[in-house]
Amino acid sequence: MKLVDQLPELLRQMEPQIVSWRRHLHQYPELSFQEEKTPAMIADILRELAFDEVRTGVGGRGVVGVLRGSRPGAVVALRADFDALPIQDQKEVEYKSKVPGVMHACGHDAHTSQLLGLASVLAKHREQFAGEIRFLFQHAEEENPGGAIQMVEDGAIEGVDAVFGVHLWSMFPVGNVYISAGPIMANVDDFVITIKGRGGHGALPEQTVDSIVVGSQIVSSLQTIASRNVSPLDHVVVTVGTFHAGDNNNVIADSCRLSGTVRTFLPETRDLAEQRLIEVAKGTAALMGAVAEVEYDRGYPAVINCDKESEIARQAALEAFGEERVLPMKPVMGGEDFSYYLGKVPGAYLFIGAGNPDHNATYPHHHPRFDIDESAMLVASEVLGRTALRYLEQHQS
Ligand code: NI
Repeated sequence: MKLVDQLPELLRQMEPQIVSWRRHLHQYPELSFQEEKTPAMIADILRELAFDEVRTGVGGRGVVGVLRGSRPGAVVALRADFDALPIQDQKEVEYKSKVPGVMHACGHDAHTSQLLGLASVLAKHREQFAGEIRFLFQHAEEENPGGAIQMVEDGAIEGVDAVFGVHLWSMFPVGNVYISAGPIMANVDDFVITIKGRGGHGALPEQTVDSIVVGSQIVSSLQTIASRNVSPLDHVVVTVGTFHAGDNNNVIADSCRLSGTVRTFLPETRDLAEQRLIEVAKGTAALMGAVAEVEYDRGYPAVINCDKESEIARQAALEAFGEERVLPMKPVMGGEDFSYYLGKVPGAYLFIGAGNPDHNATYPHHHPRFDIDESAMLVASEVLGRTALRYLEQHQS
């Protein structure tokens, strides 16, 4: 029997171990750029599995495991992230976070565990495929500049022909797989606007330049980027997330600080949104006699799935789960630093449904009660496993 046909059963045998890894990681989450025990645990497991190569500290804190098949061939990379978030876990489950204020509230614990499960199966059957499967365990997905760019710069995907990754998603029902070619996640850019007015007595506005009034005007005007500058058929989000000014009810605030995020898909829209944000902030401030300084920070580029690789992944998912469970992925304005791998090599990023009211897995990602239906992990590892094997088979040298 071909390895790809044995996968479901081999993974099923791994399921208790996958769940136990996930629950361990869930109890001991580590923040972005502070991960120590997590990458150490991953490296230990890969060494235990007699991986051909295990590189640690890749790009800082990443782990790369190399598995070589029986014959030379293509190189396919599979990526899982492993960082947590600064959120207090409010779930009532036995595996809730033991680290105050830190929580796996995005499912990266599950990404890593399912990929370790797949690694275990493939390591024991490496004589049954040609080429190389490279496992990328990535730190710091949640925080700019992100671990992906660091791992890429450290050679993690040198020689790789294609890269695949998944995100479990609690807002989609467990059991489903979502895959589409083209843009699926957005460019993520952040900004800070500092407005300098002139403070004074709350009863004597004629002597002041009210930075709060200027800031409010800027917040409103920024929405015209979406409504007036960008085509209604294109996509942009401008969100002001913080607005800080003033200390006293009867004092006109001297300065005001706004910060927020801008999301787009197209490179030209990204440029336009940045240009307009700076013009609107500075122009509105000038109009009202104040001065605005703008810091604009470009973060993760958009995730744009490649046609051929998306189709390989889709066929792999269809083979496993059939048409009613494999659905197109509608683009979301969230971001993902998986885009840095896709900037170097072709590939695709998939979403795996992990929501289930029977398992209290109904909260959105980054919520203090976020949880998943753990059976989604087997779906993820089967899709990734089939995709990798399919890719290697189609690209035999
Ligand atoms: Ni995430």
